[in-house]
Amino acid sequence: MKYLSQILNKAILIPVLAFFTVSYASAQEESEGLYETIQNLSETELILGVLTLGLLVVALLVLLAVIYTLSVVKMIVREKRVKEGLPVEEKSETTWSSWLTKVNDAVPVEEEEEIELDHDYDGIRELDNHLPPWWKALFWVSIVWGIGYMLVYHVFDAAPLQAEEYEIAVAEARAEAEKMANVIDESSLSFTDDPAHIENGKLVFEANCAVCHRNDMGGQVGPNLTDEYWIHGGSAEDIYMTIKNGVPEKGMISWEDQLTKVQIRNVTSYIHSLYDTEPDNPKEPQGEVYKYEEE
Ligand code: HEC
Repeated sequence: MKYLSQILNKAILIPVLAFFTVSYASAQEESEGLYETIQNLSETELILGVLTLGLLVVALLVLLAVIYTLSVVKMIVREKRVKEGLPVEEKSETTWSSWLTKVNDAVPVEEEEEIELDHDYDGIRELDNHLPPWWKALFWVSIVWGIGYMLVYHVFDAAPLQAEEYEIAVAEARAEAEKMANVIDESSLSFTDDPAHIENGKLVFEANCAVCHRNDMGGQVGPNLTDEYWIHGGSAEDIYMTIKNGVPEKGMISWEDQLTKVQIRNVTSYIHSLYDTEPDNPKEPQGEVYKYEEE
């Protein structure tokens, strides 16, 4: 019996440990919250997951049933031996209950008389039990913790309080959002050759600008943007500002309200990436030659 329970212990422990190790590892890998992970699961994965979970629950129930049956069998065997007058193991306290007595510093039932208080209310009597040591330890730990907490948060102001933490998080998120959406240093503009910028600029251009400038930028209503002739200048700053402010009197609107600064920067770089290409049907040169400095 003893060995059996040891084996059972292992039989429970190993799969549980394995389960947590695997889920921890995969959580690390994807570094997503549980909620996102579930949301991103495909239908099959979800069904598989539910099935696995159901299987685990069933396995657990079977295990409990086995443990219960074994304890009943043990009891029956014992009773039979007692009836037949065979020697039986002293019915020692189970490890569990002796462990409980120990951790709770409880007085064994046989000795309870010693701690009985001498009042008796209609037969209800009271024991003067000790507080469990773990309870007392928690009590002391929480006092020490409280002192530490007060020193850190209220005396030395070493860490932000909840409200400040919230402000900080909001400020960080706002900065992050600005960085992603709209922060371009307009005092030092330059063409970028970051493929992500160019790719995004292409999308912006084809959606908004190609109607007048054509997909290949050869020009139609608007001028050819691939040649070296520029009405408003061909530097990164010139192009950026032309797009941002537009030339409303000539039919080119200001894009400031419709595109983010990042999009304007991207489309500026995309225009530059098509410089000196040969569009199918280029419009005649307009403006003056702008020479790029050797890069
Ligand atoms: C409705 C038509 C139209 C659309 C749409 C349009 N443009 Fe223009 N664009 C023009 C016209 C017309 C000009 C010439 C303005 C002038 O003559 O001063 C121009 C000029 C320009 C210039 C300056 C060219 C030079 O020679 O200096 C650039 C750069 C430019 N457009 C980029 C864009 C971008 C980028 C978009 C999309 C976000 C866009 N345009 C959308 C009509 C348009």
